[in-house]
Amino acid sequence: MTRPAEGGGTASPLGPEFLARPAAVLAAYREGACPVARVRTPAGRPVWLVTRESDVRAGFTDPRLSLATTGPAPGRPHRALDRTLVSYDPPDHTRIRRLAAPAFTPGRIAVHRLTAERLADGLLGALAAEGRPVELMAEFAEPFAFAVLCEVFGFRPEAGRALRRAAADLLAHRETEAALDTLDRTVRAELADRRARPGGADVVSLVLRAWETSGEVTEAELVDLVAMLVLAGFDSTVQTIGLAVLALLTHPEQYGRLKAEPGLTANAVDELLRWDTPGPFATLRTALADVPVGGAVIPAGSGVLLAVTSANRDQRAHPEPDRLDLARPGAARHLTFGAGPHYCPGAALARIELAAALRAFATHWPHARLTGPPPQHGGGHQHRRLTALRLVQDGSAARARER
Ligand code: HEM
Repeated sequence: MTRPAEGGGTASPLGPEFLARPAAVLAAYREGACPVARVRTPAGRPVWLVTRESDVRAGFTDPRLSLATTGPAPGRPHRALDRTLVSYDPPDHTRIRRLAAPAFTPGRIAVHRLTAERLADGLLGALAAEGRPVELMAEFAEPFAFAVLCEVFGFRPEAGRALRRAAADLLAHRETEAALDTLDRTVRAELADRRARPGGADVVSLVLRAWETSGEVTEAELVDLVAMLVLAGFDSTVQTIGLAVLALLTHPEQYGRLKAEPGLTANAVDELLRWDTPGPFATLRTALADVPVGGAVIPAGSGVLLAVTSANRDQRAHPEPDRLDLARPGAARHLTFGAGPHYCPGAALARIELAAALRAFATHWPHARLTGPPPQHGGGHQHRRLTALRLVQDGSAARARER
């Protein structure tokens, strides 16, 4: 028998405390009377939180939980990101997403491992050699992730610079119209460049080739897809690097273990992805019918937030979930990259970037510690952002003097 969820009707639990401690806020729902609860977003929109691992996992593959949205207002010319992969359901989603598959096979992505390692090593080594405090997000995570993106997508330098400015403006919610225009123009110019120089193996070339042979996708959908691939993973990766370093520095015994056993890195990457993520929820879905979930019924038309962070800390799926254990068996069973048809196509690339960043960090910043005011979590409940991550390395000034 299902019953309507009780309580939580007007609670708005997704504000500043949530940004700082999402796992603790969500645990109160998951382990309390309302593992499926109706709450309000900070903007006042009623939504349903789904917090248990089995329900979140099932939600990702439930066709009654739809991502489909309508496109831009009729009559307005198309512009990049008007609709993205997370605004379609199958079969349209399947038709468009198919174009990205050849560019994101594990083999294609593995080719970039050495580049990511070289970039991370160079940047973190140079910062350590300076022997001064650093702000890791601006001085490493962001430039590193952008450099990898440019390499993987084969962007020409001018295009890379334009995209970096546009991404920064979109994330800061400033000059949004101009930033979207820049994104649109730059993606179209990169596509035109690859048309004129066929045969490349970068993401833009491979997606373009798949588009030319498919014949099932419009040019507007192609532009949306490339723009989405550029933007979707960029800040998620930057923020994940920051959260992973923060977790290591606040769990020194685990950081010690990583330094002593570099072979743990791949597992550590997944445990750190389970531990904390900039995206506590999947993209907001809409129930197309009354959907029974975990003893409640989510009424047709409701917004639904699948709480990834809560699923990753559910003891029903992960023993001792609130213990960070870089050697945890089954760490990769987290839902940080989602599941089902919208599973993150960039997961392999993100893992490579994180592994490269962690290896280089352990090599060049073995004695790192946090300095200055405690790191603050900003952004919003769908995308948390570390405002700054200030580090210093014990003994680094002395080491710099010795050089
Ligand atoms: C640590 C970094 C990342 C995290 C935590 C992350 C997380 C996610 C999640 C949870 C989804 C599923 C959304 C949903 O079902 O509502 C997703 C989808 C997506 N991600 Fe990632 N992602 C990351 C990196 C990347 C990278 C590097 C790329 C591309 C280069 C990328 C591109 C995408 C795209 C295009 C989608 C939409 C897929 C679809 O709707 O079919 N992501 N990501």
